[in-house]
Amino acid sequence: MKDADCVDFLQWVLPQLHLRWPGFRKVRRQVCKRIEHRIQELQLPDIQAYRDYLQNTQEEWRVLDGLSRVTISRFYRDKRVFAMLEQEVLPQLAEQAIACGETSLRIWSAGCASGEEPYTLSLLWAFGLHMRFPEIKLHILATDADPYLLQRARDACYAYGSIKNLPDQWIKSAFSHINSNYCLHRQFCTQVEFQQHDVRDGVPDGPFHLVLCRNLVFTYFEAPLQQAFLTHLREAMHPQGVLLLGVHERLPEGENGFSIRSARWGIYEKLLSFQGSGSG
Ligand SMILES: C[S@@+](CC[C@H](N)C(=O)[O-])C[C@H]1O[C@@H](n2cnc3c(N)ncnc32)[C@H](O)[C@@H]1O
Repeated sequence: MKDADCVDFLQWVLPQLHLRWPGFRKVRRQVCKRIEHRIQELQLPDIQAYRDYLQNTQEEWRVLDGLSRVTISRFYRDKRVFAMLEQEVLPQLAEQAIACGETSLRIWSAGCASGEEPYTLSLLWAFGLHMRFPEIKLHILATDADPYLLQRARDACYAYGSIKNLPDQWIKSAFSHINSNYCLHRQFCTQVEFQQHDVRDGVPDGPFHLVLCRNLVFTYFEAPLQQAFLTHLREAMHPQGVLLLGVHERLPEGENGFSIRSARWGIYEKLLSFQGSGSG
């Protein structure tokens, strides 16, 4: 399939799925390839035939929705953000939790792909902050809409390319090299719970001290879906909760119930005084 044909197709189809074409522009190859496979699977001659097929087959939209997910991730993605989490955000949350007599930090990784992001947090805690805050346990809820990725996450075995940004010492201590894969030792997996969940269906039960919603809602979703997500998210966040977006993402302009903590790294804090619709 020619790239120009795929671009044309995506520009037609994405708004109908309430997704934003600009979010997909640079990373479209992965989605174009999946659509090409689907056309072959259906034994259709070309993308125009697939368009016709979609117009006559309501159930195919659900299939296409599943094909239209960008699933790129890696351990320690945007190192400096994880450094901020380790040096500032997590210690502050842990200190506040201890001051309130809490014994755990609840974290939600939304759109966790194959587990790279929540396991990075688990490693960061184990190798850094656990010694400083031994009384605090980390509970990480990691969700994704894609059941195949979640199975890979539970298996916790990765190609070297996925983990290579991690400090060498962490790789040596936390992974076993098995048949060309690097498999995370079970002790680093136990605090991560994986669940299938579509962020368009609301937000899991909180309260969450920290939410990572990186490279998903604020890149790929249209504005009304972003607003709906934020409304639900506020309700599920701890009063002192922190929201982390991807480094190229920002919350939409206007009052949304969050104040910016770091514009550079896309870090926000829940606003206690917010009285927006449905915010409670
Ligand atoms: C680009 S990856 C980002 C992974 C990770 N957060 C990171 O920044 O490295 C986006 C992830 O969101 C998932 N996703 C896409 N649409 C979703 C939806 N509606 N609900 C939940 N997860 C979704 C995809 O399956 C994919 O794993």
